[in-house]
Formats: sequence, structure tokens, C-alpha cells
Amino acid sequence: KRSTVQQLLASQELDREVLVKGWVRTRRGNKYVQFIALNDGSVLHNIQVVAAAENFPEENLKDVATGACLAVRGTLVASQGKGQSVEIQASEITVLGKADPETYPLQKKGHSLEFLREIAHLRPRTNTFGAVLRVRHALAFAVHKYYNDNGFFYVHTPIITGSDAEGAGQMFRVTTLPADNPPRTETGEVDYAQDFFGKATNLTVSGQLEGELAALALGKIYTFGPTFRAENSNTARHLAEFWMIEPEVAFNELEENMDLAEDFLKYLVRYALDNCADDLAFLNEHYDKELLARLRFVVDNDFQRLTYTEAVDVLKGARQKFEFPVDWGTDLQSEHERYLVEKHFKKPVILTNYPKEIKAFYMKLDDDGRTVRAMDVLFPGIGEIIGGSQREEDLEKLLARMAEMHVPAEELSWFLDTRRFGSAPHAGFGLGFERLVLFVTGMANIRDVIPFPRFPKNAEF
Ligand code: 4AD
Ligand code: MG
Repeated sequence: KRSTVQQLLASQELDREVLVKGWVRTRRGNKYVQFIALNDGSVLHNIQVVAAAENFPEENLKDVATGACLAVRGTLVASQGKGQSVEIQASEITVLGKADPETYPLQKKGHSLEFLREIAHLRPRTNTFGAVLRVRHALAFAVHKYYNDNGFFYVHTPIITGSDAEGAGQMFRVTTLPADNPPRTETGEVDYAQDFFGKATNLTVSGQLEGELAALALGKIYTFGPTFRAENSNTARHLAEFWMIEPEVAFNELEENMDLAEDFLKYLVRYALDNCADDLAFLNEHYDKELLARLRFVVDNDFQRLTYTEAVDVLKGARQKFEFPVDWGTDLQSEHERYLVEKHFKKPVILTNYPKEIKAFYMKLDDDGRTVRAMDVLFPGIGEIIGGSQREEDLEKLLARMAEMHVPAEELSWFLDTRRFGSAPHAGFGLGFERLVLFVTGMANIRDVIPFPRFPKNAEF
């Protein structure tokens, strides 16, 4: 029976026969004995395989090189070496797949993250990406666990849609019409009535609108799926394809929405601290010496809550000079968000009640008629990690907002039915999953926390 490296390293049962399969990280030694570091991805650590020269002459080990895949049989014994408690005294080594040392791109020495991005198809075999992908998995699992334990239902929203949930026009078109010479209407526009769905469609930017329908039927729901934005932002915080978690709760108002966001984020970070200790320790040591301290700080301290208007006052009083000046009504730039979180309050911040002009059409208007019940959660090193709001539940007010913002009501008639029939206060938010993984792993670039990043001019893998 085959064991994983994780099982073997945790095993108390020594001096028994074991079988393990994995990939060679390194091989070193002398003419009497060779040491093979074998990794199978189940944990950060390798298991050491000891091959005595009397059983394994060098010519039998010539294909045991970095990157090769092996099956190893042997005895699990206590290890004399430091850094590991057990090792395998090999009795049989089979090379399942060779890796030519001349052409295998991953060598023993460390590689830069930039180089690894160019070989995204092989980088899961490095310690760093193994760690990131295991943490990513743990966080995804924790998302489902949190909501399941709290009585939320997971709702699947469509990826191909005919609407623009954010009204921001950042959509990737989905079409089967020929690129050259598509059918055109009398006015010369591409005629999507002749397309596959009989109308123009795009990849979803958010599952929120469909999530709202579900919340007004099931009460507490969440979505967790891929979302797409054709925004040309070549930054370390943006992807063209990212995963978003969007809870939506009937009868919740802004205050409860904030409580949910804070509790949820703390739960996720705590889950990673409790379940990914080895991987986080590795990332802390190699990439960000403050990582563990920062994660614990977030779990242990209340987030700072204030309104956009109060934040603008703080920023106007700041000693620091900003590249973009701040005035009531302007959208905050990441330099402003980071000032608030990292310099002024020195903790996560929830900003609320933004001017209606800079937020989406569906947010509930405040009594002053100038601001909306929006909330953004800002995190150290990240900036905006969550965006959400209490929703406008009043049909007339919502229609007025849509008209003001040129959102076509006839295309969203199905959505407006929620306000026509049994409307109710409700609220929700979107957590950018990769921004969460970025925060928890301490990586610097969002392209390094998703296996196959999509960004402008990059969809190779
Ligand atoms: O603030 P956003 O655009 O809000 C929405 O999409 C709402 N429909 C959510 C809701 O209320 N249900 O996006 C939400 C979050 C952001 O805070 C950010 O973390 C992430 O999604 N995000 C991105 N992450 C990576 N790359 C991008 N291009 C992102 N755009 C947004
Ligand atoms: Mg936002």
C-alpha cells in the first residue's frame, strides 16, 4: 500500500516496509551513500531516501535526477540527520518518469518569482507554489465550511450572462459570430440577434444580481465562482479572471453586513493559521518576516469602522503628500487606502457611506440623498479586499438610480422582479479570493497566488 510523504513524516510506526511515490528535489552524497530528497506535494517537507552504494551502484541511479518521478520501496527508520525525524532506507527504486537535467527548467537553486511565472505550468513543483496552492485550497475549503456551519446555501450563478452586474462596462464578450465580417444591423452594428443566444452575452463580472434573487428566496446564500473583468489594469492586485465569494443575506442591513464581513475574514485567517502552519512558516521565513505577526494581529483586533466622509477628513489632515489629491466626491486611490490602514489606523479598516456617484447603481441611498450604504474593507498591503453594500430594495428609488447611471432597466427586468414582488431589505458583499490568498500567503503579486493567471497580453497556459 502506498503512503504519502505527509503520512510517513507523521508516522510513529518505525522499522516497517513502506512504498512512496514522488518527484526528486535533489540528490547528493558520496561514493558510499546517496541521499534523495523526495517530494509528493502532500506537505511542504521532503522525505529523505537513503540509497547505500552497495545496493545502488551509481549507474543504477543515473536517471534519479532533479524532477524525475520515482517509486521507492524501503524501510521507514528514525533519521540521524538533522531537520527530519524519519527517513527511508531504500530497497528498491523505480524511475517512473525521467527528467533530463539538461532541459528540466527547475534546478536545485532557487528561481525568481518572475522566472517561475514564465513557466507557470511547472511552478507547482516548487516549495513556494506548493505552499501557496495548499494554503489556497485550505482557504477555499474554509469558505464553504464557514457558510455551511452558519446556515448559508451555496448557489451557483451563471458564468455566461446577458447583463452587466456592476454597470461598469468591463466585460468580455462571448460570441460565436465570425470575427471578420459578422452580420450587421441596418445601422451597421454587429447583429447579436443572430448570435448563439439571440442576444449579446458576456462573461460575468459578478454573481451578485442572481445571488440577490436567491437570497430573497432562501434567506442566506453565498456564491463562489470565477468572475471576469476586462479592465486594463496591469497591477499586482488585479486579474482579468479571479474568483469571488459573494454572500447575500435577506433582512441584513449595513451594520450586520459589516459584522459578517469582519467575522468571516477573521475566521478564514484563523483557519489558515490553524491548518497551514508549516506552509505559512515557510512563507514567513522566505518572503515576508512579518507575515505571521500580521495574520495574528488581524485575527485578534477589531477592524476600524468609519465613513468615507470621516476618512476624507483624515486624509486631508495627513502630513503625507499624495500623488492624487483627495476631495469629497473623488474615489479613493490605493495610496489613500493604504495610508489609512498602514499609517493612520494601523489595522484593517471598513469604510462606509460613499458618495453615490462613485458606487454601483444597486446600493441603497442614504437619507441625505448624497451617499449610499456601501462598505469597503481595506487590508494592510492589499487595499480593498471586500466591496459590498446594503441594497436598494425600493423599486422606484432603484429605477431612478438606474436611469441616472444609464443602466438599461429593460435588460434587468428579471432582477427588478425581486423589488416588485415581496421586496425586503438585504445586504451582501464580494470578497476577492486571490486578494485574500495574497494577504494570507504574504506574496507580493496576485499573479503568484492563482495557478494560471490571466492578465493583459497573457493567456498562454
Ligand atoms: O468591489 P467589487 O467590484 O464588487 C462587486 O463585484 C460586488 N458585486 C460584490 C457584492 O457586493 N456582491 O469586487 C469585489 C471584490 C473586490 O473588493 C476585490 O477584492 C475583488 O472583488 N476584485 C478583484 N480581484 C482581482 N482582480 C480584479 N480585477 C478584481 N476586481 C475586484
Ligand atoms: Mg469595489
